[in-house]
Amino acid sequence: MLAIIGGSGLTTLSNLEVSHREVVRTPYGEPSGALVFGGICGKPAMFLPRHGYGHTIAPHMVNYRANLWAIHHHQATGIISVASVGGIRDDLGPGEIVIPNQIIDYTWGRKSTFFEGVDTPVTHVDFTEPYDASLRQRIQDAAASLNLSVKVGGVYAATQGPRLESAAEINRMERDGADLVGMTGMPEAVLARELGIPYAAINVVANHAAGRGSSANGIHFDSLETVLHEAMSKVRGIIERLVSSQSG
Ligand code: HPA
Repeated sequence: MLAIIGGSGLTTLSNLEVSHREVVRTPYGEPSGALVFGGICGKPAMFLPRHGYGHTIAPHMVNYRANLWAIHHHQATGIISVASVGGIRDDLGPGEIVIPNQIIDYTWGRKSTFFEGVDTPVTHVDFTEPYDASLRQRIQDAAASLNLSVKVGGVYAATQGPRLESAAEINRMERDGADLVGMTGMPEAVLARELGIPYAAINVVANHAAGRGSSANGIHFDSLETVLHEAMSKVRGIIERLVSSQSG
């Protein structure tokens, strides 16, 4: 069963026919909310809103370990992470949908491994390719079958938040090779890897990153919601197509 973790603009999955909800207790504390189980066109899926149902959990406060543990506990076969981002690359303006293929982690102080604790052997997972290639391909195929244009590939910079970046920070990230910037991609991706769950992301560009394009003089929040609303309905379509085309 696929799991969908929704971010800003996707706190519910309206095309999921809900069968039940479950509050999962984990060794790491509380997940962001109850896991919602259901079906899309008869195929099972589960959903978790990363920031909670009331969108009250800031990116640095999300209990990523509890979220991932809960999803793993319910035998997810893959995770699609949906998150809004700022676009650094010129062609990544508001409304673009991106399937990233790499990550740079600028976050700090987050609990980012399951492999710690008294009796836990130190383990170094391979993270050369942070996103699962076949899940990325399935997202791409689902989008193509709906005639939706998506940008394939991009380096995601994970920042600490909750504040947005300075223009100089964005310039530095660009020099590092980043194309888009968000606050929640890490440690989510690596925790999924530690648990052996294929993980891929659909990123929706909400705004030009600080100092770029329409954000040259600041990031204006008034237009963000409209942009996200429109793009998220496309993302729902992609997810619906992807889940319903699963075998089994
Ligand atoms: N920076 C970081 N995270 C974001 C942004 C941004 O500009 N927009 C949406 N999420």
